[in-house]
Amino acid sequence: MNGVTHDLLVLGSGIAGLRAAVEVARVSKGELDIAIVSKVQLMRSHSVCAEGGTAAMMRPEEGDSFELHAWDTVRGSDFLADQNVVQRFVEEMPQEILQLEHWGIPWSRRPDGRIDQRAFGGHSFNRAVFAADKTGFFEMQTLYDTLQKYASVTRYDECYVTSILVGDNSFQGVTVWDLVSGEFFVIRAKALVIATGGACRMFGFTTYSLTATGDGLAMAYRAGLPIKDMEFVQFHPTGLIPSGILITEAARGEGGYLRNNKGERFMEKYAPERKETAPRDIVSRSEMTEIEEGRGFPGPDGLDYLHIDLRHLGAAKINERLPLIREVAIKLAFIDPIDEPIPIRPAAHYFMGGIHVDIDGATPIQGIWAAGEAACVSLHGANRLGSNSTAECLLWGKITGEKAAKFALEQKALASVSEERVRQEEALIFDQYRHQSGEEDAYVIREELQSAMDRQVGVFRTGPELEKALEKIRELKERMKSVRVKDESRVYNTNLLNILEVANLLDIAEAIVAGGIVRTESRGSHSRRDFPQRDDVNWGKHTLAYYTPEGPRLDYSPVTITMWKPVERKY
Ligand code: FUM
Repeated sequence: MNGVTHDLLVLGSGIAGLRAAVEVARVSKGELDIAIVSKVQLMRSHSVCAEGGTAAMMRPEEGDSFELHAWDTVRGSDFLADQNVVQRFVEEMPQEILQLEHWGIPWSRRPDGRIDQRAFGGHSFNRAVFAADKTGFFEMQTLYDTLQKYASVTRYDECYVTSILVGDNSFQGVTVWDLVSGEFFVIRAKALVIATGGACRMFGFTTYSLTATGDGLAMAYRAGLPIKDMEFVQFHPTGLIPSGILITEAARGEGGYLRNNKGERFMEKYAPERKETAPRDIVSRSEMTEIEEGRGFPGPDGLDYLHIDLRHLGAAKINERLPLIREVAIKLAFIDPIDEPIPIRPAAHYFMGGIHVDIDGATPIQGIWAAGEAACVSLHGANRLGSNSTAECLLWGKITGEKAAKFALEQKALASVSEERVRQEEALIFDQYRHQSGEEDAYVIREELQSAMDRQVGVFRTGPELEKALEKIRELKERMKSVRVKDESRVYNTNLLNILEVANLLDIAEAIVAGGIVRTESRGSHSRRDFPQRDDVNWGKHTLAYYTPEGPRLDYSPVTITMWKPVERKY
């Protein structure tokens, strides 16, 4: 059996993964041998696409407070966030902003030199700290630079983890396919932090990178970890037509207007107080209502759209605050937002759900932590506020890094891994799809999945549509048994990689839809036309999905309410 050992393994190299790795290195003062495994070159993680900002309470002297940030987050979550988690988040986040500042991030500044903050949806104070509209890129770069100080880190870039090995409810290691060399090997370690992001690539119209296929989520699920609140998928109100690329919410935070085909600022009707900076679930529903009632523009492939209008902001502000948006609009929609409005519609953007973890990011399996979008620490409940995600990645990257490091420092020995189990995994990965008989094509299956998710698991849902989606997902899972890999090599075999990713997407999609069918209420991003009211009595609880080969087994757990009882949400 080919194998290597490290003390601690970080799976995924986005903001949460890099922040965790830095914290492990800091806490262990070089004592722990750390590995970061990523299926892409480290700086190509999807986190580099984060644009608008990172929320933190930085200005008590101007009227912001921990309480206000917490209230905005809890109300935004439609009262499904765990309030003890929210409280910890708001209180600890400002230090993360300053920490990154000390590591050299070029935060955008006010004229007096102090860190600037901008408006974001659902926040009742300008609270998003930012670096122009490339916040994720600069956060990644800063963490990457910081990591260079620590010699104790080994990188496995372009390596695809195929499974998480667990024995006696404890972490043992992971099996890895090195995409570049084609080798298959085991990494054994004392502790694991999973930070592999979400899986919105199961949707066709999405802000996600092509690589964001929820591999870590699916592996954790199959390894026995419950995944929580998966039915809550966030649609970002401004995905660029036709690619879905993100037009940051900061464009509205900086004063951009949403307009329909009559030129009306329609958000005045749906959220009279907050208008364009209402929370995302509300803005996305308003947009879909406008489109469905015929006030959109006809778009390609049924992607009818609306406009975000920045023209009144002027060239200077657009160039200073939103340079990436301008570049993206010019290069991909052939529109200069200084002169013309940008075509947009809601795009799948974020999973509120993820691997079930406690307030420290610990999973129910000893030695495994999860952070960032892959995890569900229950900070966002049923709807996340924009700019609370990069913040969560930083803070729970730090928290899980510290906890996992302390655990690994105390562990004397590595767990052993069964050679037979690894041989079986290697055979499964490389032989299963060579020997299956049939002519199914995983690229077609991926497209059919995306089309079903776009049509039936979108901004608005109904029971019968969700049932149809579940039937489709199960049909596609069945058809995966007749998929044959066309490229039989081991080296950079993107054909096989696609098959493995599609299998992961299908498992996660099934959990999303199964949870959504049963949740007969509307809450946050889960908006059921057949059950339009929130139902706190029956559904004020988290959904837990456990993997079984026949489909997810659902269970529920209570929401932690420490500060505010649920009330009506109005903006
Ligand atoms: O619109 C944005 O810049 C996205 C931010 C977020 O998802 O938090």
